[in-house]
Amino acid sequence: MLLLNPNTLLVTGGAGFIGSNFIRHVLTKTNFLGQIINFDKLTYAGNPLSLADLSQAFGERYVFVKGDIAEAADVEAVLKSYPVDAIVHFAAESHVDRSIYGPDEFVRTNILGTYTLLQAARKAWGERKDVLFHHVSTDEVFGSLGDTGKFVETTPYDPRSPYSASKASSDHLVKAWHHTYGLPVTLSNCSNNYGPYHFPEKLIPLMIGNLLAGKVLPVYGDGLNVRDWLYVEDHASAIWAIVQRGRVGETYNVGGENEWTNIDLVKFLCQRLAEVQRHDPHDYLKLISYVKDRPGHDHRYAIDCSKLKAELGWEQSVTFEQGLETTIRWYLANQKWVSQVTTGEYRQWVEKNYQTR
Ligand code: NAD
Ligand code: TYD
Repeated sequence: MLLLNPNTLLVTGGAGFIGSNFIRHVLTKTNFLGQIINFDKLTYAGNPLSLADLSQAFGERYVFVKGDIAEAADVEAVLKSYPVDAIVHFAAESHVDRSIYGPDEFVRTNILGTYTLLQAARKAWGERKDVLFHHVSTDEVFGSLGDTGKFVETTPYDPRSPYSASKASSDHLVKAWHHTYGLPVTLSNCSNNYGPYHFPEKLIPLMIGNLLAGKVLPVYGDGLNVRDWLYVEDHASAIWAIVQRGRVGETYNVGGENEWTNIDLVKFLCQRLAEVQRHDPHDYLKLISYVKDRPGHDHRYAIDCSKLKAELGWEQSVTFEQGLETTIRWYLANQKWVSQVTTGEYRQWVEKNYQTR
């Protein structure tokens, strides 16, 4: 078992949803005393404002570097400038619907970017074994489940969307760099996350925003697709456990053990928001509208995370009810963040591609 106590973490994609929650978690809730370099291209999904308070609170222990993981010069420069001993790789294009309408960036960032980062890590670290490349991936690489069964670490890969195919490719590259070149790596494949700083194109924050604006709640197809939801900070704590104590070369599944059909989840969200706001839930429920299905929409994802629990003692810290209430209250208190991230480039893209929905 690797017992890694890194001094300098390079976090790619740390201005996005999970990366920003991970950085916040490590700096504020663990005994880590080193430095975190947040390396991010700041696409539409990356917002440095999500971590602005940490720059103030942690000084030089939190550094932001703007750069592109698919540009070797950018990546090599950051690895030359800082004595990085662990890379936690979140940076990716992450939205399935976008990958259907525009797969190019998914291939570039998720596949070419991961390759570029792996090569730069080899160059910077040589034969060192006291370092780690942790790759953050998704359960979507395993494909689509029927009504029973769960994904385990050995489930054969069967990606269906351009997003999941690009993430599957990146997983294979990471494993190959370990087997072929001896690069110390770990991987995690996680189910759907929810929580603060989630970009409002994804199901839960999109529905909260539409409810607050009195807009329709677009449920794809028959609403019976199933997702397994995990609070984002519990994903962060799982990654931190793997970075410190995971076995090199191993994959760990991370999941919420919390399956919901989309329609039940949207109804539950209507009820919880109504409770928090002391509002009539019927006003919210009547906004639900079934719309054209997503092409190739995976039916069900469900994760068996018993390896992570048994080997590393990981547990979730909140119930779904608690996590969802924190999330709802966070969005109510942070409408300014929502309007900042949904203007400009993102809005233009939505107007161009989503006008028929
Ligand atoms: P996100 O879209 O919110 O954030 C992605 C971040 O990566 C942004 O800050 C963006 O600016 C940055 N980025 C994109 N392209 C880049 C590039 N070429 N160079 C440098 N930075 C770049 O994504 P997220 O939801 O936080 O997901 C993070 C990771 O976790 C991804 O690898 C994703 O596949 C994985 N994951 C996500 C979920 C989920 O539910 N969101 C679940 C399992 C795994
Ligand atoms: P999403 O948050 O995009 O995550 P993923 O596709 O990676 O699972 O979507 C979660 C589920 O919600 C998925 O089955 C698609 C569905 N969905 C809707 O029904 N309506 C929406 O507006 C969105 C964004 C998603």
